[in-house]
Amino acid sequence: MAYFIGIDIGTSGTKTLLIDQSGKVIATATDTYPLSTPRPLWAEQNPDDWWRATASTIREVLSRSGVASSEIKGIGLSGQMHGAVFLDDRNQVLRPSILWCDQRTGAECDWLTEQAGIEKVVDITCNPVLTGFTAGKIIWLRNHEPETFAKVAKVLLPKDYVRLKLTGEFATEVSDASGTSLFDVKKRRWSEEMLEAARIPKSWMPPVYESPEISGKISEEASALTGLKAGTPVVGGGGDQAAGAVGNGIVETGIISSTIGTSGVVFAFSEKPVVDPKLRFHTFCHAVPGKWHIMGVMLSAGGSLRWYRDTFDPDSSYDKICAEASAVEPGCEGLFFLPYLTGERTPYPDPNARGAFIGATLRHSRPHFARAVMEGVAYGLNDSFEILKEMKVAMSEVRASGGGAKSETWRQIQSDITGLEHMLVNVDEGPAFGVALLASVGTGVYSSVEEACKSTIKVASSTMPDAGKSQLYQRYRDVYRSLYPALKDQFARISCISG
Ligand code: XUL
Repeated sequence: MAYFIGIDIGTSGTKTLLIDQSGKVIATATDTYPLSTPRPLWAEQNPDDWWRATASTIREVLSRSGVASSEIKGIGLSGQMHGAVFLDDRNQVLRPSILWCDQRTGAECDWLTEQAGIEKVVDITCNPVLTGFTAGKIIWLRNHEPETFAKVAKVLLPKDYVRLKLTGEFATEVSDASGTSLFDVKKRRWSEEMLEAARIPKSWMPPVYESPEISGKISEEASALTGLKAGTPVVGGGGDQAAGAVGNGIVETGIISSTIGTSGVVFAFSEKPVVDPKLRFHTFCHAVPGKWHIMGVMLSAGGSLRWYRDTFDPDSSYDKICAEASAVEPGCEGLFFLPYLTGERTPYPDPNARGAFIGATLRHSRPHFARAVMEGVAYGLNDSFEILKEMKVAMSEVRASGGGAKSETWRQIQSDITGLEHMLVNVDEGPAFGVALLASVGTGVYSSVEEACKSTIKVASSTMPDAGKSQLYQRYRDVYRSLYPALKDQFARISCISG
């Protein structure tokens, strides 16, 4: 029997899992680390925390599973996308990584868009230059920390820094490279034109692979630290959204996923690099060779409920919060939550957008606020479903996934607000599972990503929308959609004052 390891370097922690070739999960382990917010709307992490968590969770899954390291045939890496890890010429980390949800680079993104011209930016990268994406972070370093910038020799994405520690190789793959604003998404290679416009040397960027391709092998040094066998292949892997989609079987037209992790993502497979004419959706390379995907990304989905718990109900569990929320009437008797706690991308690419509770009365108690948070996230995901409809994307099946899908209440709310049946699949182990499957493809156990998914992933249950509740939500949804446009200018004014 062949075994595979998948590692997902997430924002709240690293999850490592060990599967056998039939897709059965044998062992999992997670380790967490802090996120620092030196200023409002900034977000940073220490890359060596990712490496420490990766090494410890690998050791843990090996010892829990009892599988010998010689039986591990391949390893896949996934991770939070877009973050910039700056290395000097001795591969030392120069400063904390600036993350996907950091919003400091508005001026830099405007500058790059002007340098390259918006038409060229969209033609090459298939997206606008967004504050979350990597290029703005590199330019920010040049503008604000020139001494550190002068020492930069390489820039890596989060999972690719862990790859360097595991294999000694500089490498990335197409799905993660797509979120840098420096990548030709149609041609699946770095864009000389975008690099030139940004004045970033091409030598700073690592070679690019397709996701199932072998990008390196476990080094002797990493073997000693992790217990893995030296020489074990490590495949390209994927950005967490493409990898999670593989782990959910989103590898054919019509199957859509709706994922509530820290972020919230509605994801569709695409045969071609189609672009939303209003640029609200991202168009990236998929982890399936020669294919693409489009997705709407909310920055604070599960992150909103975590913030709610930490701030208003710190001694409670998510189960208890969801149980209390389920007793509140749909629509929360007119209480709304706008989930823009770290700005937003879809449908409003606005770094200044803020979270808000609106419509509170004396009648509203804490459970109303919890449910309002869950509904606000679901209204936000629904905005992405509306864009898919506008783009005439086929939608034959929706699969709910991520931590948020574990709550029956939240799944029902999503189904009622969108009016769409939401399925659950047999394995919901997210991106770590997806990249373990990619490792099984890269090492020849399966002949394609599609075959690996078909052999291991099945629909297990479903949540149907309730017609009466959907009707009520439709009325509230119209109000929800009018709130951001009404507040947009005020959010910008608040940011001017608070910084
Ligand atoms: C995708 C995105 C997030 C992060 C963190 O574009 O920014 O999904 O990858 O999960």
